[in-house]
Amino acid sequence: MRAVSAIDAAYRQFFKQFLFRLDAEYAHRLTLRTLSLMPPFTPPRDLPELAIKLWGTDFHNPIGLAAGMDKDAIAIRAWETLGFGFAELGTITPRPQEGNEIPRVWRIPARHALINRLGFPSEGMEAVAPRIERMRKAGGKIRIGLNFGPNSNTPPEDVAADYSALMKRLGPMADFIVINVSSPNTPGLRNWQSPEKMIELFAAMLGDAGESPRPVLVKISPDLDRNELFRICETALEIGVDGIVACNTTIAREARGVTSPHPGGLSGRPLLIRARELIRDIHTHTRGKIPIIGVGGVATAEDAWLHIRAGASLVELYTALIYEGPGVVERIKTGLAGLLHKGGFRSIGDAVGIDR
Ligand SMILES: Cc1cc2nc3c(=O)[nH]c(=O)nc-3n(C[C@H](O)[C@H](O)[C@H](O)COP(=O)(O)O)c2cc1C
Repeated sequence: MRAVSAIDAAYRQFFKQFLFRLDAEYAHRLTLRTLSLMPPFTPPRDLPELAIKLWGTDFHNPIGLAAGMDKDAIAIRAWETLGFGFAELGTITPRPQEGNEIPRVWRIPARHALINRLGFPSEGMEAVAPRIERMRKAGGKIRIGLNFGPNSNTPPEDVAADYSALMKRLGPMADFIVINVSSPNTPGLRNWQSPEKMIELFAAMLGDAGESPRPVLVKISPDLDRNELFRICETALEIGVDGIVACNTTIAREARGVTSPHPGGLSGRPLLIRARELIRDIHTHTRGKIPIIGVGGVATAEDAWLHIRAGASLVELYTALIYEGPGVVERIKTGLAGLLHKGGFRSIGDAVGIDR
């Protein structure tokens, strides 16, 4: 805890100003590289009331790193040191690829937001696999979600085969798997959110028996209308999807109160209310039968708490790390425990979906 507080203070007093003068993606790479070199510290034990069990896995706390921050699994131990209960790594593609041309990440400091159109730069699944194996061997305790996406040059008829290859190679190493069909930066990807395509994808990935070695979740877009969302919920119940990650970045601007010339997906504060609305709609429509990972705009304990009360069993964040610093995870956890006690709840699980 002391180590994290020191890193947080240094970030907020010095590094943030320095990094914010650099190109956003370059600053990200520099930070990630630094974190990957940090010796792992054992984080303080989480309060037992923050623990939650999902899919048979114990999560020591419900706060996770969202996908995109550590796409190639290079800094896994650092996420544990910072106090995350889990990290969703990726998006990982089967083969290495560069992604879109640079520049492709922009900050909107006035709104505590980012826009990115990275397009899945990935070192590919063969580079990621040994890093996860090494972390497990070294005794890393953090729970790992692996987020999968297709290569951009894969023809539409082979996209399902890309997900299958990822599942086969990396699936058994994960605590849970996330099928990313909602990034706005890979043309055609969001079409896989339609019920027919989802059924086709799951059949291809899991085979006729529909068996998966690990829980499989689907990550959805905030740009779906309610009908589309409800059809996804019904399909998810029908085919036994283990969870829904809500949500990815949005292509909306005005509706989220943002004007920007940059193309791509918007994340951070402007996404908070939309993410919560989606979480509540999914929880209501599935009658709480499918666990939800709530992600979008979370920067404080209250934000996380309200996502949980809307129906999220776990909560993730990305953009807040950049604006609030690495201490944000500990601050959220401490605040969350306080809110839990104040509301008279004995555990996170007791509060999931009570505002539905
Ligand atoms: C720079 C950047 C890259 C991202 N890359 C991915 C990605 O590769 N896969 C994915 O599923 N989501 C990706 N996301 C979306 C985040 O996982 C998350 O859904 C979104 O940013 C909303 O959370 P936030 O407001 O806490 O950032 C990315 C987000 C950002 C800001």
